[in-house]
Amino acid sequence: MSQDWQRLNDEVTALIKEARANVLEKMSDPLTVNEKTNRKDLVTNVDKSNEQFLIAGIRRIDPTAHILGEEGFGDDLKSLDGRVWIVDPIDGTMNFVKQRDNFAIMIGIYQDGEGQLGYIDDVMNDVLYYGGPQLGGVWANDERLSAPANLALADGLIGASGPLVIHDVAQMHKIIHVSAGMRVYGSAGIEMINIMRGKTLGYISHLKPWDIAAGQILLNTLGVRVSAIDGKPLNMLSSNLVLVATEKAQRDILQIEEDDVSL
Ligand code: IPD
Ligand code: CA
Ligand code: CA
Ligand code: CA
Repeated sequence: MSQDWQRLNDEVTALIKEARANVLEKMSDPLTVNEKTNRKDLVTNVDKSNEQFLIAGIRRIDPTAHILGEEGFGDDLKSLDGRVWIVDPIDGTMNFVKQRDNFAIMIGIYQDGEGQLGYIDDVMNDVLYYGGPQLGGVWANDERLSAPANLALADGLIGASGPLVIHDVAQMHKIIHVSAGMRVYGSAGIEMINIMRGKTLGYISHLKPWDIAAGQILLNTLGVRVSAIDGKPLNMLSSNLVLVATEKAQRDILQIEEDDVSL
């Protein structure tokens, strides 16, 4: 690992810890909540202020950064060339609004399309998950994580997003049926943490780049597969139906899809 990446990591972890403190402070005031596309797609004043705070910090750390942020304060990104920072200021906004719990701050750093460093901050539990190929591992605060067990689909729990289970299809039901059970946490970031911790073996959801940018880097570093639902690489400039799974469970799920019609 180069010293440059180590220094960058130190600066990003400090920035995220500051962002966490800001979010915790603002949470005690009443939130301003607005609908984006529908009543289940919310944004709060904290989503916006935290994205602005993170982007200002990233520009200080890396003045030539290209930044893709969910709430639109970053750049209008047309390619993944150069160093690209992908920011989700509050992942799990509905949980943030309804529970004040189970949400995360997430940043993924890519270089010419390749994941380098990922950060998922579990705000309410005080745990920052960070790592990637540039650090040669993944940490939860000071604890180095080992790779989760390579479980087959039948041997573990699988996370899924609520809408996918409600609206989609026989194959989804079959995947859940073959698994040991389904869990819905309402935050892609918290789902990734559960996979890193070996609590679930995978996750299936329609996701935007900022929902999966950090998780893809961290999970790949731990040997977990992150792909589109057909097993192909994700397009990090658009939405994807994402399949995150242990190697064995990915194989089982792709087999179920092959045996049925399209998902
Ligand atoms: C959402 C959450 C949710 C997932 C949605 C995401 P947001 O992110 O991760 O769990 O099902 O697809 O959009 O909007 O709260 O950052
Ligand atoms: Ca959102
Ligand atoms: Ca998100
Ligand atoms: Ca968000």
